[in-house]
Amino acid sequence: MTPRKIAVIGTGYVGAITSTCFAWLGHEVYGLESDPVRVGELTQGRVPFYEPGLPERLKETVATGRLTFTDQPAEALTDADVIFLCVGTPTGPGGTADLSQIESATSTLAPFLRDGSVVVNKSTVPVGSGNWVSTLLEEALPEDSKPQFSVVSNPEFLREGSALDDFLYPDRIVLGGEDAGIDQVAELYGPVLEQKFPGGRPEKLPRLIRADLTSAEMIKYAANAFLATKISFANEIANICELVGADGRQVLPAIGADSRIGEAFLSPGLGWGGSCFGKDLAALIGTGQEYGYSSSLLRSSVEVNELQRAAVIRKLQRELRVLKGRRVCLLGLSFKPGTDDLRDAPALDLAGRLLAAGAVVSAFDPVVTQLPGDLDAVRIAQSPIEAARGVDAVILVTEWSELVALDPQGLKSAMKGSLVLDGRNALDEAAYCAAGLRVVGVGW
Ligand SMILES: NC(=O)c1ccc[n+]([C@@H]2O[C@H](COP(=O)([O-])OP(=O)(O)OC[C@H]3O[C@@H](n4cnc5c(N)ncnc54)[C@H](O)[C@@H]3O)[C@@H](O)[C@H]2O)c1
Repeated sequence: MTPRKIAVIGTGYVGAITSTCFAWLGHEVYGLESDPVRVGELTQGRVPFYEPGLPERLKETVATGRLTFTDQPAEALTDADVIFLCVGTPTGPGGTADLSQIESATSTLAPFLRDGSVVVNKSTVPVGSGNWVSTLLEEALPEDSKPQFSVVSNPEFLREGSALDDFLYPDRIVLGGEDAGIDQVAELYGPVLEQKFPGGRPEKLPRLIRADLTSAEMIKYAANAFLATKISFANEIANICELVGADGRQVLPAIGADSRIGEAFLSPGLGWGGSCFGKDLAALIGTGQEYGYSSSLLRSSVEVNELQRAAVIRKLQRELRVLKGRRVCLLGLSFKPGTDDLRDAPALDLAGRLLAAGAVVSAFDPVVTQLPGDLDAVRIAQSPIEAARGVDAVILVTEWSELVALDPQGLKSAMKGSLVLDGRNALDEAAYCAAGLRVVGVGW
């Protein structure tokens, strides 16, 4: 592998992983970040969010001298062979993606482009944005300079909580664009594609998928739309199971045992969340709409998800009747275990609905210690037992292993009531019942 100078613009979840991993594999990497506090933290080897294994890998890699974080564009971008865009693309007004961070990043990088530069878009951008980025760059170039650069789409599939492994051992790497640009980016990924690095797994090589720019962008949205729809499907089947008296815990794994379907993402729960599914579905639906297409399946996925979040409250009302003045404890706050990411986390929705119904809410999460300002009224406890003290009901929101492994006896002694809503079907029902608790799950 020929080491290259890589610039990564935006060092949030995706950019921090991308820059650390490429530098760890041997490239010279500069992470360009507009937030100086984040630059300081990363430079000192501190990760500003929770991601298992990343702090150690970051410190080790910064110490090699191959990884630098800066807020100075010239330091990061001068002579960079490949520039990765890893800035945020949150949902903007009307559900469409807000591309202002992409716009500002492209205007920062344009003056540094030279012949052969490759701009790689790892941010999730609406279908067609690759062409738009090219145009933005062309327009931002000085009159007297017209370097031959290319734009490649490299959608990111990492999952928070297992992001390092997802970078190093992906199922596939998708690269969209012209061949010359794709070849350069594929070369950067050489050690991953060949699994030639300490700990590489040559028995399972990732697939390199070449596509055109628009198709690569579509692949990312379609993959997330499928995963979200699969969860919504599981939730819908679970809901019907509850009505007819079937047990979703038996039904769904049996569906998943069919190799055409697969068990992954077929677990019912409190609805999907996180930084990607909601915004990517909204953007894909919006794209369809621009072309006069109404994505009825995707709209239904979103609708089922909203109903699923509301269903928890209905179950609590059914069990406790009046929620006003009731004490309810949320176990787990992040949108899934292994991360402290609260973006579109079902817990936020749930806490808001409980507070609006007049309940008194306490919570515990192994890594989340603060909630957004509008949820100030939620008391964050130091331990699950402290959070459950004196409550009428506990809701398992996130299936962190330490929460699943809680001693039901201890929980029962702390609680005033005996109701446990298992929002993830993760608890040992028999052990909970033996401790005198009443468990209500999803789909049974
Ligand atoms: N988080 C995930 O799990 C995940 C997975 C796949 C794809 N994605 C996509 O990757 C992109 C990045 O997501 P994220 O979660 O890392 O976002 P993030 O908000 O955590 O990070 C974005 C970073 O970019 C910085 N930034 C913004 N504008 C900048 C500029 N002009 N110059 C330099 N830095 C700038 C911000 O300060 C921030 O640190 C999004 O498009 C997202 O949809 C995210």
